[in-house]
Amino acid sequence: MYILGIESSCDETAAAVVKNGRELLSNVVATSVAEQALYGGVVPEIASRRHVEFISGAVQQALADARLTPADLAGVAVTFAPGLIGAVLVGVNFAKGLAYAAQKPLIPVHHLRGHIAALYLTHPDLEPPFLCLVASGGHSHIVQVQSYTRYKVLGRTVDDAAGEAFDKVARTLGLGYPGGPAVSKAARGGDPKKYRLPVPKVEGPYNVSFSGLKTAVLNAVNQAAMKGEPLDISSMAASFERRIDEILAEKLLTAARDTGASTLCLAGGVAANGLLRSLLNEGAQKLGVRLCLPEQHFCGDNGAMIAAQGYYELQAGRTADLSLNGLATLPIDYDCE
Ligand code: KG4
Ligand code: ZN
Repeated sequence: MYILGIESSCDETAAAVVKNGRELLSNVVATSVAEQALYGGVVPEIASRRHVEFISGAVQQALADARLTPADLAGVAVTFAPGLIGAVLVGVNFAKGLAYAAQKPLIPVHHLRGHIAALYLTHPDLEPPFLCLVASGGHSHIVQVQSYTRYKVLGRTVDDAAGEAFDKVARTLGLGYPGGPAVSKAARGGDPKKYRLPVPKVEGPYNVSFSGLKTAVLNAVNQAAMKGEPLDISSMAASFERRIDEILAEKLLTAARDTGASTLCLAGGVAANGLLRSLLNEGAQKLGVRLCLPEQHFCGDNGAMIAAQGYYELQAGRTADLSLNGLATLPIDYDCE
């Protein structure tokens, strides 16, 4: 069963074909990230305009690489929420047109469910239930994945998402966009103990808060400027990266201990972070539980993860008619009453 997955919720215009939710046949990603970097972050209108330009080519290429035509598909899956609404609507509308023309089911996919489904592409034997930390530019969740389409959110950020904190700190340190890879690169050779950054307090055992951490970095930068002292950017990047990764890893491991989960997963753009991956590796080993990490190229936004989740949504009968709309926000457990 071949599913085409279309993703356009942020600055990647992506399309991919996946067989039976697990086997990748093609994966095309066009991105406006270089252009967005000129502005220090994603400009929604630019993202939407690039999606309009890139989407037909990306879908054509994904089908051609898979050696398929729309007639071969079992369905057209598309990110319909959450995301930058003008960007989401480009993918949704294209998917509707294609599903209509090819007379195929239209499958709405929640973006974060997609990030989790990226793990199915890397780990053929991974099946729910498992516990997953989903950390992206817009969200940081600790989620119990109870089945392929059933989720329970145990914890979340009360302010900034993890990726957003990386992006903001990178901007404060003058490291550019996207912030995650820039901070990691700058942190190399830095001393992660040089700056003592706080662990922001937050209610709820699995919730996280990063806004205080971001402010602490900003204060240090301002104080150094006022005193006319140079700031050790590399050590500040290393101190920040270590602190935020320790918080994320600790929360997931605590949730694993408390719930008795035997499999832990990491998903979303921040899953590309090398230090976070190694902290979780160590922690999972100590706990004696399995840890599944996505391949680096499936951490950021892509169409393959949407096609993979689309397969399971289709199995569960979750298709939409051609009146489907996009949504800027929607909880991951939106239909898991
Ligand atoms: O999942 P994603 O590609 O898009 C959203 O759904 O938001 O995540 C993008 C986020 C950005 O904030 C980016 O800075 C962060 O993921 N990111 C990283 C790394 N690579 C990307 N954060 C930390 N370390 C990385 N290596
Ligand atoms: Zn994403």
